[in-house]
Amino acid sequence: MNPACAEAADARKSHHKKDKKEKKKKRKDATDHHGGENAMAEEETVHKKKKRNKDTEEGKKTDQNRKPTVSIAVAGSIIDNAQSLELATLLAGQIARAATVFRIDEIVVFDSCPPVENASGAEAEEESGAQFLIRILQYLETPQYLRRRLFPMHKNFKFVGLLPPLDAPHHVRRHEWSEFREGVTLGGDRSKGTLVDVGLSKDILVEQILEPGKRVTVAMGTNRDITTACVRKVVPPSSPSDEMGSYWGYKVRYASNLSGVFNGSPYKEGYDHIIGTSEHGEAIGSSELTLPAFRHLLIAFGGLAGLEESIEEDINLKGKGAKDVFTSYLNTCPNQGSRTIRTEEALLISLQYFQDPIRRAG
Ligand SMILES: C[S@@+](CC[C@H](N)C(=O)[O-])C[C@H]1O[C@@H](n2cnc3c(N)ncnc32)[C@H](O)[C@@H]1O
Repeated sequence: MNPACAEAADARKSHHKKDKKEKKKKRKDATDHHGGENAMAEEETVHKKKKRNKDTEEGKKTDQNRKPTVSIAVAGSIIDNAQSLELATLLAGQIARAATVFRIDEIVVFDSCPPVENASGAEAEEESGAQFLIRILQYLETPQYLRRRLFPMHKNFKFVGLLPPLDAPHHVRRHEWSEFREGVTLGGDRSKGTLVDVGLSKDILVEQILEPGKRVTVAMGTNRDITTACVRKVVPPSSPSDEMGSYWGYKVRYASNLSGVFNGSPYKEGYDHIIGTSEHGEAIGSSELTLPAFRHLLIAFGGLAGLEESIEEDINLKGKGAKDVFTSYLNTCPNQGSRTIRTEEALLISLQYFQDPIRRAG
């Protein structure tokens, strides 16, 4: 074992022994004091209760301390209107860059028409605009060194090499050290844990036994030993953001229609503030806009015909207007000179517009 790791293990062992001794002594004292097993059982119940309370308190605290999230919903139909695979790829790249520049936590791509059932031949093979967008967004969000392992070749990746990289903090370079790294679990001997490719010159070992081919976030710490003598841990993907405030990429989700965006929220509590964007929305200056304090904000962007059409097409939203569906419906670019602002343009304009209101709400 590497000396630093051995030292840490020794320290852990002696601490554990000391703890055990102290606990034993306390239990003995309690038995002597109260004269019997009842006292011990009582003490244990109190101890368990205290631990439960502490755990729930800590659970609450971490949840409350967790940074509020910002999600965007984008109509997948924007891809259907692109005139070539190359242009569709560039469009997907613009969405990915905008989401990264503005530290978006989740991108929901929603469809307008459900996929054709019983489609066959070329029709069945063809991806919908939404599916295409999801594929490219996920690919771009994945650190370069993991892409080959996680994404099999696909014809729709033909022009992806033309796109500018996201250059996000979790796209760590081979020679750089980072306290967290994204990795993919590998197969092989599992007696000591699981080997993970984290894009370094050697695969590293984590203590958990995990099935191969899974993307994971690994706590690398500050010890730069990458031999298997130093065993690391897989942590929740929110750890880099919770612990270092680093932006750690976006998640991507599919919704078959607009209502699916709201109903399929990955957050237990759902979205607590939902904004729709449109030239028909209310025009409020960014500095005058007050957003309520939120845990999970969602900002929706429509396709060529806008969000109002997405509402009309959605049988779950029948008879509803934009004001019923969204908590606010906003025009983020009043006095536009062009007749239409394209979705990819609206994304950049609006996310910049919401920067200060979001900061003030936080
Ligand atoms: C081509 S536009 C759709 C035009 C449509 N008439 C509308 O409702 O805005 C595509 C999307 O860009 C966004 N967008 C366009 N103009 C906007 C504006 N002035 N303010 C906010 N968002 C806008 C909206 O999300 C819209 O659904």
